[in-house]
Amino acid sequence: MAQPLLFTPLTIRSVTMRNRIWVAPLCQYTITAKDGVVGDWHLVHLGSMAAGGAGLVIAEATGVSPEGRISDEDTGIWNDAQVSAWTRVVDFLHEQGAAAGIQLAHAGRKASVWPEWGYDKHGTMAIADGGWQTIGPSNIPFGEYSAPVAATVDDIEKIVTDFTDAAVRSIAAGFDVLELHAAHGYLLHQFLSPLSNVRTDEYGGPLENRARLLLRIVTAIRAAVGDQVPLFVRFSATDYAEGGWDQEQTATVAGWARDAGADFFDISTGGNILGVKMSVGPGYQVPFAAFVGSTAAVDVSAVGLITEAEQAEQIVASGQADAVMMGREMMRDPHFALRAAHELGAEIDYWPKQYLRARWR
Ligand SMILES: Cc1cc2nc3c(=O)[nH]c(=O)nc-3n(C[C@H](O)[C@H](O)[C@H](O)COP(=O)(O)O)c2cc1C
Repeated sequence: MAQPLLFTPLTIRSVTMRNRIWVAPLCQYTITAKDGVVGDWHLVHLGSMAAGGAGLVIAEATGVSPEGRISDEDTGIWNDAQVSAWTRVVDFLHEQGAAAGIQLAHAGRKASVWPEWGYDKHGTMAIADGGWQTIGPSNIPFGEYSAPVAATVDDIEKIVTDFTDAAVRSIAAGFDVLELHAAHGYLLHQFLSPLSNVRTDEYGGPLENRARLLLRIVTAIRAAVGDQVPLFVRFSATDYAEGGWDQEQTATVAGWARDAGADFFDISTGGNILGVKMSVGPGYQVPFAAFVGSTAAVDVSAVGLITEAEQAEQIVASGQADAVMMGREMMRDPHFALRAAHELGAEIDYWPKQYLRARWR
């Protein structure tokens, strides 16, 4: 029987992913020391998915600077202590045969919030409680969050430098794949969307201006890390709101980002505007990935309620996406890829030897 496409390796620049079942970035809000340094939880959380056969494991939205974190319990990649701690995790992912990715993030107007769990408070964390003043493209708040201050040109230069330095540090930590978080209403998405960006300078207005920050970061990172490193961008393909960011703009900017040095586009949706209507069901974001992939002629992954082996195989075999990203199903079943190989009849040589006696026959 032919190998299912889901279990066919995919090579991007110098990195080969052993299959197309990839772990989506998943914030854990777990760094209670508030220093951004990962520990045992991340080793086990990400490590189990690598042992479970995933082709690529992308670590959560990781702050490129302290003020770029969503909460003060997020992971970070702005100093050497963080690099050493990540190296321990990355080495284990490699030992298990998975490629290791990291999502580089700045939360912009959605920064300085209470961690999603562990506290009975939600929304903006006040400065008195340890929060900080947020920045965004414009001083438009997200829902009930505190209003950001509009980024100055100096702030923008620092953001470009922070992302670039974080990329270099990620490579020093051993990561194979870099992903820029330009989705879910975080800073780069805020710049892209006309609903959160009403600037009148070269970073606001026409699409090429709203895309300028993202494209500058892609260009700077490509120059800094060389031509061997795969660079992904995660987009929200729509704001689900009249006059907002949409899939046509996403496809155009994906093409520009590819020309600037990005390789692969991880297509999600939403997160920039509160209270919008979206219809959520199995594979609900796959059509957005297919649209961006075919319109811009770029490689894409699909994400969102992909939970079954057959479903994942169908998404890649039909050409709607080149790979699938999975979040919640991976948390329920970190060994999903091993199970999927069994269900689809794929031949794989990466069952962990310690678990061989548990193989389905
Ligand atoms: C606990 C949790 C944390 C998440 N953290 C991130 C994140 O750090 N970065 C990101 O781009 N998306 C994040 N997401 C979204 C997931 O990557 C994914 O796109 C979403 O959960 C839909 O896929 P799924 O149905 O397979 O879970 C998170 C989702 C969950 C449930």
